[in-house]
Amino acid sequence: MSASLPSNFLLGFATASYQIEGAVDEDGRGKSIWDTYCHLEPTRTKGANGDVACDHYHRFEEDLDLLQRYGAQAYRFSISWSRVIPKGGRDDPLNEAGISFYNRLIDGLIARGITPWVTLYHWDLPQELHDRYGGWLDVQESQADFERYARVCYERFGDRVRKWITFNEPWIQSIFSSEGDSSTEPWIAGHAQIMSHARAVAAYNRDFKPRQGGQIGISLNGDFFEPWDSEDPLDAEAAERRMQFHIGWFANPIFLKQDYPACMRQQLESRLPKFTEADFALFQEAESDFYGMNYYTSQYARHRTGAPSKDDYLGSVEELQWNKQGRSAGEASGLHWLLSCPEMFRKHLTRVYKLYGKPIYITENGCPCPGEDNMMREESVKDDYRCRYFADHLDAIGRSTREDGAVVKGYFAWSLMDNLEWSDGYGPRFGVTFTDYETLERTPKNSALLLKNMVKVRCQSVQ
Ligand code: NOJ
Repeated sequence: MSASLPSNFLLGFATASYQIEGAVDEDGRGKSIWDTYCHLEPTRTKGANGDVACDHYHRFEEDLDLLQRYGAQAYRFSISWSRVIPKGGRDDPLNEAGISFYNRLIDGLIARGITPWVTLYHWDLPQELHDRYGGWLDVQESQADFERYARVCYERFGDRVRKWITFNEPWIQSIFSSEGDSSTEPWIAGHAQIMSHARAVAAYNRDFKPRQGGQIGISLNGDFFEPWDSEDPLDAEAAERRMQFHIGWFANPIFLKQDYPACMRQQLESRLPKFTEADFALFQEAESDFYGMNYYTSQYARHRTGAPSKDDYLGSVEELQWNKQGRSAGEASGLHWLLSCPEMFRKHLTRVYKLYGKPIYITENGCPCPGEDNMMREESVKDDYRCRYFADHLDAIGRSTREDGAVVKGYFAWSLMDNLEWSDGYGPRFGVTFTDYETLERTPKNSALLLKNMVKVRCQSVQ
């Protein structure tokens, strides 16, 4: 028996600018740090880059038709900062051609009855801001520039966009973009994104929300962790600590308006930046409306003994995919780090809701099927594994909301189409649409056509 979903449960699909748009040199777009990174020698991205990607910039009408065909009620996409402000800074000129692209996209969605959900920042920082002051390593400069960029978006798109996500997975951006001292840089970059989020939300709440009436939040990632040895209290602590280091890092200041988790202060000491009284006052004005959750997998945590190294960012735990009894956390997908663990997803939802008390939207969830990176189109579209993954995760949402009291209001499948999986290049296929990277032809996979019904059936079983 599948568990029922809340009525009015929202179904959408998600993407991000650099992963799909292409057209990197067109219509005045400035470079982003991902343009640079993808062209480094030797390659850090398996030879792949986003120069063309899915060519969504030129094919967006076709992609919007797909969304409509899939029964999407909402579409989550991100704006490329350097298309809107090529150099990115608060005194730099706007690029009207870039703004016009997003206007056409937004209008196209609305014409099809699909609600736009806009992410302001999905990792593609304007290269110029990196060159000027090191991007997120300058807490003051970056938040001033981000606030201005956010204000431009509210001004130019906010008459039609009523759902805003400030940052996508600031954890990834902080941990994986350290270039120098990895014992301090992640914590500074995280601090800068928290403050930038707060500035952008406060600006929205004060100057736009009263007129535009929208909502704003952030998308945080983070696996659920269970103790490796369920009998060992130290592993239980390690599992909780691991989640505090991942989620609490951002959620404590953003949703609880509190300092970083105590376990982080204890381990990182003065390497963790401090919030001032003025920062806490800003948090009071920066109430977020929802918790955006990107969720893919779960793991086991085993405590480490001895002092953690200076570049430990996990909270002194070992992350494992099996527990002490050798039980795997879940069924293997097409990527080594992604096991399907719906039972732990249910616990995760319940824990996050209890801790942070905001309605949850799943802003990403999905997987590549086993072996899909080597499949031709005919095989890839028969994506039974993905269908099962979606169904199991929707069931987990149903159980968490019906039985555990969590509030989960919607679900965005990652992703609308196969696209550039960052450092993994074009190998992993997360899409519900098959992308042929030679011809750029799109073909719906079975999951794309079935997902709508999966949600509908589960919503109906409530009545
Ligand atoms: C998280 C990121 O937000 C997205 O860009 C990425 O493609 C998916 N997870 C899958 O790894």
